[in-house]
Amino acid sequence: MLQDKIKQYTQEIEQFAPGSAADVEAFRLKFLVSKGIVKSLFEEFKTVSVEEKRVLGKVLNEFKQLAEDRFQEAQVEFQQSSGDLERKEGDLTLPGEGIELGSRHPLSLVRKEIVEIFKKLGFVVSEGPEIEDDWHNFSALNFPPEHPARDMQDTFFIKKQEGNDIALRTHTSSVQVRMMEMGKPPFRAIMPGRVYRNEAISSRAHCFFHQVEGLYVDENVSFADLKQTLFHFVQELYGEGTKVRFRPSYFPFTEPSAEMDISCTICKGTGCNLCKGSGWVEILGCGMVDPNVLENCSIDSKKYSGFAFGMGIERVTNLKYEIKDLRLFSENDTRFLSQFETEII
Ligand code: PHE
Repeated sequence: MLQDKIKQYTQEIEQFAPGSAADVEAFRLKFLVSKGIVKSLFEEFKTVSVEEKRVLGKVLNEFKQLAEDRFQEAQVEFQQSSGDLERKEGDLTLPGEGIELGSRHPLSLVRKEIVEIFKKLGFVVSEGPEIEDDWHNFSALNFPPEHPARDMQDTFFIKKQEGNDIALRTHTSSVQVRMMEMGKPPFRAIMPGRVYRNEAISSRAHCFFHQVEGLYVDENVSFADLKQTLFHFVQELYGEGTKVRFRPSYFPFTEPSAEMDISCTICKGTGCNLCKGSGWVEILGCGMVDPNVLENCSIDSKKYSGFAFGMGIERVTNLKYEIKDLRLFSENDTRFLSQFETEII
């Protein structure tokens, strides 16, 4: 009788306790395939009387559901214990693999720091193009026509054109010119950016590096303002008590010009390898904007004066983190880069 068979198989299914994947598969083959028991009971169902159908229809459907549910349960249960699931979907009970966070490039960190210090003094940030013409990179900055800095050995020329060659800028002083040409004094800006020079790459030189230019033009700006501004900057960046000294120097676009040294950040002035025993390290060039430069930018040099300075970000960074090889900055070696501050944005 159909009813008895259903009862018997229901019992069998309820007692089913698989010990391996093979048991689960045997269950499937016995009950659920097209020649299996469930199907055969449905075949038999077709032959019973209408009264019996009324009663058994529901019972049979429940039986079918039971067989399917039990099979699925057994499948999951078995796969979990055998490690099958692990291979297919990963072990969901393991802790997740964290995503490695990137870190800021040391040059970006230092640039940001420099910018923040000058922002507090009211300097705005300005930028200019890396591909420049001769006028902005040299002529307007008072470089004489035969100045060696214009030479092929220093400058990457892109296009020769009569009186105004196109080149990769060799310094950020070109941005000073662009600023002054476009606006009216007062100007108080810093200009960070990448610059290019045709140099053989070594631990101490690279064909590109980064500078931050500073410019302050107003009425009655003096060398004392320049000294005080840079002194304050150095205290902020390298800590209170860092000494500064100015040595006379020459730049075509500043008069007078100076180079600024700070007391060695490593030995604090007593003499070490970094400062070659002198106790001082050079960090920037500066001076009073040459009146010719102001006039080239249509600024009245009788009314206005200003100071400018320019520093290499690599140099400032090397001093801060004691990095001895410039090439590390552009090699993208994560063993180097991951040593710097990680920022969670
Ligand atoms: N442009 C100079 C350099 O590249 C630095 C500098 C900027 C010097 C401004 C004086 C004033 O070396």
